[in-house]
Amino acid sequence: MYGPLAFALLLASSAVAQSTTYQAESATLNGVTVGTSVSGFTGTGYVEGFDADADTLTFTVNSTAAQLYDLNIIYNGPNGDKYTYVVLNSAGGSQVSLPATTNWTTVSGGQVLLNAGSNTIQIQSSWGWYLIDAITLAPAAERGAHNITTTPINKNANADAKALLKYLGSIYGKNILSGQQDQDSLDWVTNNVNKTPAVLGVDLMDYTQSRIDRGASSTDVDKAIAFAQKGGIVTFVWHWGAPTGLYDTTDHPWYSGFYSDATDFNIETALADTTNANYTLLMNDIDQIAVQLKKLQTAGVPVIWRPLHEAEGAWFWWGAKGAAPAKKLWGILYDRLTNQHGLNNLIWEWNSVKSDWYPGNDLVDLVSADTYAENDHGPISATYNSLLTLANDTKIIGAAEIGSVMDPAQLQAYQADWVYFVVWSGDYISGGSWNSLDLLKSVYTSDYVLTLDEIQGWKG
Ligand SMILES: *[C@@H]1O[C@H](CO)[C@@H](O)[C@H](O)[C@H]1NC(C)=O
Ligand SMILES: *[C@@H]1O[C@H](CO)[C@@H](O)[C@H](O)[C@H]1NC(C)=O
Ligand SMILES: *[C@@H]1O[C@H](CO)[C@@H](O)[C@H](O)[C@H]1NC(C)=O
Ligand SMILES: *[C@@H]1O[C@H](CO)[C@@H](O)[C@H](O)[C@H]1NC(C)=O
Ligand SMILES: *[C@@H]1O[C@H](CO)[C@@H](O)[C@H](O)[C@H]1NC(C)=O
Repeated sequence: MYGPLAFALLLASSAVAQSTTYQAESATLNGVTVGTSVSGFTGTGYVEGFDADADTLTFTVNSTAAQLYDLNIIYNGPNGDKYTYVVLNSAGGSQVSLPATTNWTTVSGGQVLLNAGSNTIQIQSSWGWYLIDAITLAPAAERGAHNITTTPINKNANADAKALLKYLGSIYGKNILSGQQDQDSLDWVTNNVNKTPAVLGVDLMDYTQSRIDRGASSTDVDKAIAFAQKGGIVTFVWHWGAPTGLYDTTDHPWYSGFYSDATDFNIETALADTTNANYTLLMNDIDQIAVQLKKLQTAGVPVIWRPLHEAEGAWFWWGAKGAAPAKKLWGILYDRLTNQHGLNNLIWEWNSVKSDWYPGNDLVDLVSADTYAENDHGPISATYNSLLTLANDTKIIGAAEIGSVMDPAQLQAYQADWVYFVVWSGDYISGGSWNSLDLLKSVYTSDYVLTLDEIQGWKG
């Protein structure tokens, strides 16, 4: 009885022996103190008293090589959910959630890329009143091969769409496509960085009836066709102004009519039954943008298609009533554009991270997220890992909107295999504070980053 079990336990413990524990009470304390009154801690105590913004706990840790580690935090915090902020080597940092608990609990603090030699991991007060017992570090396991599908969900997808998804699959994990939102901003990159992005991001916003009625117009479809003719890849978002119920006031002008706070349009009641007048208005809008997407199909342009973006944020009317109506509208959009309008050039890209918002693997080709962190050039790996989990690593993952470009060395070290990035337009790319020109030049000349000249002939 005893022998084999002891042997099994020995094996199990040697498998985790690479994990190293660093006790909080032995770290460098700033504005915090060692406590012992809450039992169950490891070592000789724990650290408490995170009650001022400047309070910190700094661990100094060594690594024999530059290597990625999984970080865990052992904490206790009885009075409500808390957050802490973890900063590696005094740069960047990430927020870690510490759910309320009355006993010593281990949470993941994400991954940290340690330098060879000495490193610091600092726990900053953030939303304090928790107790820290220790952290543990274990070398991150090499992730196995991806298990992505490169067959479009639409059985009738045309050769252009199939070639695009297949191409994205062929570079996934090996390279990242550079991308830029808006033709003017893309031209700025060409003229200042001296490289042209591989992906042009454009918008169906001003092909929407409620905006056309107020004088809007767009040439983004023509620009997309021209860019595709130069061998580029295009992605469309749709800032879909509500079809009716726009406040149209100084504070909430019609042109921000896709925001929940600029309209009382109610997606839930509009979708409740197909005879509702507002349901009809939504269908009319879809039929209208179908005409534009058809032009792209006719021109041989496949589209990374990202409607209902950032739904989970709730700041757009399509996300304002929660997950259920947003997912319902996604299903309607897919069915109407695919089956009624015969649009077979679309690669359907979902753009929320939370699992209860996910329409399902049978309705999504790509998953993606939008992330803005000013002058932080980290790999956004926590979000990437959440998207991996969202679709069980069966869908390719895109960084559909970012503010600051990601450092290619960190993307590779963290195995954050975003297949493309698109930097948002205007000041985000050219203003200097989100991205310096020097940094853009180094990113755009990295071997890991593909530009327009390097993807020529991707259709095969
Ligand atoms: C880290 O390495 C340095 C020098 O190699 C050594 O002096 C120090 O004790 C080590 N620190 C830890 C926490 O292992
Ligand atoms: C630990 O805390 C959780 C949440 O407060 C509680 O549900 C659980 O029973 C506790 N476990 C032990 C062993 O005390
Ligand atoms: C790979 O993904 C497919 C679905 O595309 C799934 O059926 C299969 O179980 C997955 N395999 C692994 C090893 O996860
Ligand atoms: C349609 O939406 C508008 C704007 O929110 C609202 O005033 C109107 O009552 C809705 N119509 C129906 C039939 O629900
Ligand atoms: C992913 O896998 C888990 C467990 O195998 C399953 O519960 C979940 O439904 C899967 N998610 C998707 C999107 O297929």
